[in-house]
Amino acid sequence: MTNTLEISEIAKNLVGQPMFEILELSQEYERQGKKILHFELGEPDFPTPQHICEAAVNAISNGDTNYAPSSGIHDFKKAVIDVTKKSRGFSPQLNQILITPGANSIIFLTIKCLLNPSEEVLIPDPGFPTYPDAIRACGAIPVYVPTYEKNNFELQLSDVEKKVSPKTKLLILNSPSNPTGAVLSEKEIRKIYEFCERKNIYILSDEVYARLIFSSKVFFSPSSIDFCKERVIILNGFSKAFAMTGWRLGVAIGPKEIISKMTLLLSTFVSCVPPFIQRAGVAALCEDQSVIKNMKREYLHRAQKLHDGINSIKGLSCNQPQGAIYVFVNIKKTQYTSEDFAKFLIEECGIATTPGNFFGPHGEGYIRFATVRSLDDINKAISIMKEKINV
Ligand SMILES: Cc1ncc(COP(=O)(O)O)c(C=O)c1O
Repeated sequence: MTNTLEISEIAKNLVGQPMFEILELSQEYERQGKKILHFELGEPDFPTPQHICEAAVNAISNGDTNYAPSSGIHDFKKAVIDVTKKSRGFSPQLNQILITPGANSIIFLTIKCLLNPSEEVLIPDPGFPTYPDAIRACGAIPVYVPTYEKNNFELQLSDVEKKVSPKTKLLILNSPSNPTGAVLSEKEIRKIYEFCERKNIYILSDEVYARLIFSSKVFFSPSSIDFCKERVIILNGFSKAFAMTGWRLGVAIGPKEIISKMTLLLSTFVSCVPPFIQRAGVAALCEDQSVIKNMKREYLHRAQKLHDGINSIKGLSCNQPQGAIYVFVNIKKTQYTSEDFAKFLIEECGIATTPGNFFGPHGEGYIRFATVRSLDDINKAISIMKEKINV
């Protein structure tokens, strides 16, 4: 007798991060001998700065290899308090901070600790694909709030209002945004915050790109309104601004009642973040910032090159990137769907990108390029597309 595997309804509906599927596909093409230019993943091509690596190596050499407190080591939390004071104007208490394995896990931890099954979470559309997947994995319901190119894809309160229901418990903000690079103004964030306060909705503010703003806009966090005491939970990480994708390091700051539950959940499934990784985080926050600033300058240069190049190709267009590490390209004039266009780019041009519909229904008609590839790759991709795209 053969047993049929009975997986759960939640497992059946998992999507994961579709960008990784494209990476696998492009690597398969490479194994077949095809040259691929990689623009699919938001993965900085710089190595992690040397002083950050050394902090981890020294910690290992000094025997800092035991379990650490589940909420994070004291020195790291102290560094987080100092940086938050400088960047967001308030000093969180130690019990408002949780150090996590990557920023992604904060999405899951927050939803699991705040929502009951069938309650709703408002998410930007297009937006980061982990949001709907994590929400569904927790038995809650993602509700897409559309954003529009004509508004630079900035989330507007009027669109949030249309999607609120008595079941809405949480709103996810992501400024600067993946995949659109949109940066929300302080004025709009304040309006959205006041609305959430009236409706008793929590806000998960995904700030992983906070250090990567390129326009004249200024970063504003809703945490500067309630100091993470009432309804704002900050999600932050080291992957992008510090070129630390493989280290898996994140920081959550929120109301102490929620953080204490998220800490229990984290301790249940991973115990703690390795202490030597946290030592690297302390070095990233407290030591030399010049290398971080240089990387940012280079990203801006690359984003501008990609933006100018794409707008010089007939049939393609994109807005001026305001922040994050992506340009979101309008392909509607090509008459292709997003997935077909991404397929054409990889098969005919050797360029790997991410189809816009992977980021939500309003991403259809767009594709995303990560701007963190070398100038040489950007120039090559632009000239190949100029030659091959005929609209
Ligand atoms: C908007 C957004 N939030 C969170 C994350 C997760 O970052 P981490 O690598 O720290 O898990 C990403 C990664 O691409 C992202 O784009």
